[in-house]
Amino acid sequence: MMIQQLLDRWKVEFGEVWGAKVGRAPGRVNLIGEHTDYNDGFVLPCAIEPAVWILARAREDTTIRLVSLNYNERHESDLGDLRRGTGSSWSDYLLGVASVFQQEGYALYGWDAVIGGDVPLGAGLSSSAAVEVATGTVLREMFHLPLEDRQLALLCQRAENTFVGVQCGIMDQFACTFGKVDHALFLDCRSLETRQIPANLTTMEIVICDSKVERNLSGSEYNIRRAQCQDGVRVLRVKLGERIRALRDVSIEDLEMCKDSMSDAVYRRCRHIVTENPRVLLAVKALETGDLREFGRLMVESHQSLRDNYEVSCPELDLLVDLAMECPGVAGSRMTGAGFGGCTVSLVERSAIEEFRANMTSRYATKTGREPEIHVTRPGSGAAIVDVF
Ligand code: GLA
Repeated sequence: MMIQQLLDRWKVEFGEVWGAKVGRAPGRVNLIGEHTDYNDGFVLPCAIEPAVWILARAREDTTIRLVSLNYNERHESDLGDLRRGTGSSWSDYLLGVASVFQQEGYALYGWDAVIGGDVPLGAGLSSSAAVEVATGTVLREMFHLPLEDRQLALLCQRAENTFVGVQCGIMDQFACTFGKVDHALFLDCRSLETRQIPANLTTMEIVICDSKVERNLSGSEYNIRRAQCQDGVRVLRVKLGERIRALRDVSIEDLEMCKDSMSDAVYRRCRHIVTENPRVLLAVKALETGDLREFGRLMVESHQSLRDNYEVSCPELDLLVDLAMECPGVAGSRMTGAGFGGCTVSLVERSAIEEFRANMTSRYATKTGREPEIHVTRPGSGAAIVDVF
């Protein structure tokens, strides 16, 4: 379906499709471990079924011609002059990846591409990482770049940090790259070791509720949270010594001991991270043993901490979580992603999903005047070149 749309548009824009490649990278939902990635901590996301697709073909010159189906726009650049903001914001994600590849010494030519997908935009499901990783995947294929998956994910993150200018951590690009059907991805964001955890959901499903609140504050507030975590680390290092390299190295006892040396806000930011990391480890254990009640309990605890300590939730996300927890058959629910809008993720009994959908839609709409968008998903596969011809 998506491929057909890409092909149709290609024909209109560029003519013959001969020799083109197709790359695909999924969105992601984070099950637990929020804002821990840039604190050297643990995360447990999974790839989802909605994805970004890119149809691309190398050129023999240095021109880059990009077409976005979602924005219905066209952009043209030159490899020798890749700068942020020279096009529209969507094209920055693609050009950023090319720019970072070039900085790393990989030789590229220009290319033509049509990109499109069904990952909801700006909803906290990593449409940006999906665009970056899909682009990286297809560039690697077209130009025969000797790049391993891990390096590809890291370069995509660098593109977002340095070219697009968002100081994101590594979770999203890893989830898009390494996602595996019916598995959650446990990632140690310090060592970058990954473990595929079979998502033993038995009779339950992962349900994503989009609050339809745009994440307006997310950029600036995200960077403020990062800075507050660093402030905390500085104080903790003075008190506890060099063994503290990041909040990953801090126990709750350590933190309590130093509480009076930091502002209340910094203390609560640290408290979230220091309690969230052990929750991820417990959640992995719960998933491995099929204890979904426990998994759900940890999700709710995580949400409360994001709401009260990290202060990245918003009334609509809190409402979605409260409403979900009142529905029958729900093991747990929490906001997912950076926060300030976007989505919640819930674990819901399969047999209760229709009731959940109806209940959530009408009660959320009554209270907020907004229609939530509800997606039932299973953990999907990571980025790949798709053989369509
Ligand atoms: C965004 C960032 C990630 C991560 C989450 C919060 O999605 O891109 O790196 O920090 O927020 O967990």
